[in-house]
Amino acid sequence: MNDQDIISTNDGSDSVFSSQYNATYHSKFGAIEEAITVFISAGLYQAYLSGKKKIRIFEMGFGTGLNAFLTAIESDRLDIKIEYTAVELHPLSDHLILKLNYTDPLGHKDLFEKLHGSPWEEMHSISPKFKLLKFNQKIEDLVHRESYDLIYYDAFAPSTQAELWAEPIHIPLFDALSNNGQLVTYCAQGKFKRMLSSIGYTLESLPGPSHKKEIIRATKSL
Ligand SMILES: C[S@@+](CC[C@H](N)C(=O)[O-])C[C@H]1O[C@@H](n2cnc3c(N)ncnc32)[C@H](O)[C@@H]1O
Repeated sequence: MNDQDIISTNDGSDSVFSSQYNATYHSKFGAIEEAITVFISAGLYQAYLSGKKKIRIFEMGFGTGLNAFLTAIESDRLDIKIEYTAVELHPLSDHLILKLNYTDPLGHKDLFEKLHGSPWEEMHSISPKFKLLKFNQKIEDLVHRESYDLIYYDAFAPSTQAELWAEPIHIPLFDALSNNGQLVTYCAQGKFKRMLSSIGYTLESLPGPSHKKEIIRATKSL
């Protein structure tokens, strides 16, 4: 059972409420605002500035596909190749995906539909610069065969799914990250930050989106 409904957030963009987890997929103060601040500005732009020709991204929780959608739009705009791997245990129904309003402000309807329509468990070219590999399974069972330059960590909060913010998930992810690779997340919980430091990350606290003081960028530097 994973009952999901569309809700509207304060910047006018939609999000989803999961009654199974009693949690929303994004900040109620603005889904697009949060995705841009946490994942695109703090994560993607920083990786782009490092001068890489190709960026390999892993996302925990594909959900509405909003982070992948914004990243695919940026790959074309910045003219940089991106290989994007995502895991999702409860894919949204087509009915719900069709109702999400992200293409109203962002355009690129074909791109959004291709991200959702691409088959699971296989790498697909979604646009000339953007390749997508989605896994429909639990992150707990995922074996990281790829190496990543950037991790978008977008699980439900520790108050909802504490197990996803702990070492058994994060040590394999750290191992899969390239040297100087980074993890970005909206979650600035003290226990989570201490765990990241203990497994070897260097942490930065950055200003968050509306109503959120702090977000985290963690760097693996060996
Ligand atoms: C905060 S929402 C993600 C939001 C998503 N990034 C977006 O922009 O829509 C968390 C996501 O993790 C998924 N999820 C929950 N438990 C999971 C697990 N054990 N493994 C993989 N995905 C999981 C949920 O179904 C949900 O889509």
